[in-house]
Amino acid sequence: MDERRFNTNAIHAGRSGYQPDSMTIPIYQTVAYPYEDAREAAQIFRGEKPGFTYGRWDNPTVQSFEQRMAVLEHTESAIATSSGMSAIFMLAHHLLDKGDEFLSSNLVYGGTFGLFQKGLDRMGANVNWITSPQNIEAWESNITPRTKFLFVESPSNPNLFIADLPELAKLAKKHGLPLIVDNTICTPALQNPVDLGADIVVHSTTKYICGNASALGGIICGPRELVEGIRQGCIRYIGASLSPFNAWLNLIGLEHLSLRMERHCHNAMILARYLDEHPSVSSVNYPGLASNPYHKVYQKQMKGCSSLMSFEVKGSYEDAVRVIDAFKLLVHATHLGTCMTIVTHPASTTHSAMGEEELLKAGISPVLIRVSVGLEDEADIIADMEQALQKLN
Ligand SMILES: Cc1ncc(COP(=O)(O)O)c(C=O)c1O
Repeated sequence: MDERRFNTNAIHAGRSGYQPDSMTIPIYQTVAYPYEDAREAAQIFRGEKPGFTYGRWDNPTVQSFEQRMAVLEHTESAIATSSGMSAIFMLAHHLLDKGDEFLSSNLVYGGTFGLFQKGLDRMGANVNWITSPQNIEAWESNITPRTKFLFVESPSNPNLFIADLPELAKLAKKHGLPLIVDNTICTPALQNPVDLGADIVVHSTTKYICGNASALGGIICGPRELVEGIRQGCIRYIGASLSPFNAWLNLIGLEHLSLRMERHCHNAMILARYLDEHPSVSSVNYPGLASNPYHKVYQKQMKGCSSLMSFEVKGSYEDAVRVIDAFKLLVHATHLGTCMTIVTHPASTTHSAMGEEELLKAGISPVLIRVSVGLEDEADIIADMEQALQKLN
């Protein structure tokens, strides 16, 4: 299976053994699996016989999604979770003990920031924020004997920071630490962090992988030992598992992921160029632009730039709000990675868990507007952007 190429795997990986065979993977909408007899149940629970035990940690439809994701992310194994946040939480819960530390770029989704800053602190584990994550020395100088892993979101939401993953992986290996990459924005269609040296990949599958804002989900892709440790550990005890129906929606999403990503990238490049030249826009964050500070790193390690971008309007918070409120086609929501183009004001919504100083350090200003460019006709996206920006004249 692994020798097949991306699009073939995105459609066929994880399909096996269904009776009767079926073009789409069946939805096993069940939580339990009756046994032949008590002996068989015991063998399955001991792992001596293949089979399923209980829906909180295993289900055939969810397993197909996990197998397909592991193939696409080039990892041994994968475990699906109820959301992207629960994937990050499960991973941290599995890797950290009381008194442990970990390093994270401060350029992360607001929910991740809140979890690392407040949620894990309550468990007695501490984050060391790396506020200049492009600087490898900044990571190295913060490693202590208690450091357990390095975490980076690349590209980052909403500012599109791109970490030099091979360099960061080299540093992690030198210190014997795992490097975790949140690959939500690229998806495996555009970037495989493990091929660049990372050890573990997490996703909010809620975004591009599902692709139409219909199912919350997350996944951890990594070595079998880690994945099975999480399956037998915190997912079993906490129960943040993916539902069979959401796994099925994600399987369908994967079938045309690379086609969608191609068009997302195409539309985003056109909008980024347009915004870059607009007189009411003071800056654009999109690494596909040659002038972007991460352009070279992007070209080195990604197959495409995905479709998340952000830009600052000239003026004040009120001006940014005037633009956001003027959109007629673009949808104002706190989401990204869908067929529809979405606009968001990160400072007051997705990243509102960060304080004023933290927002400033992360470059999330009151005039910053995030756009997740969708799959509509590009001329219609530009026309709506143009009429909204005209409100600033
Ligand atoms: C990069 C990134 N990681 C993780 C998450 C959390 O995912 P979820 O909303 O599925 O919990 C998000 C949500 O926006 C995100 O943008």
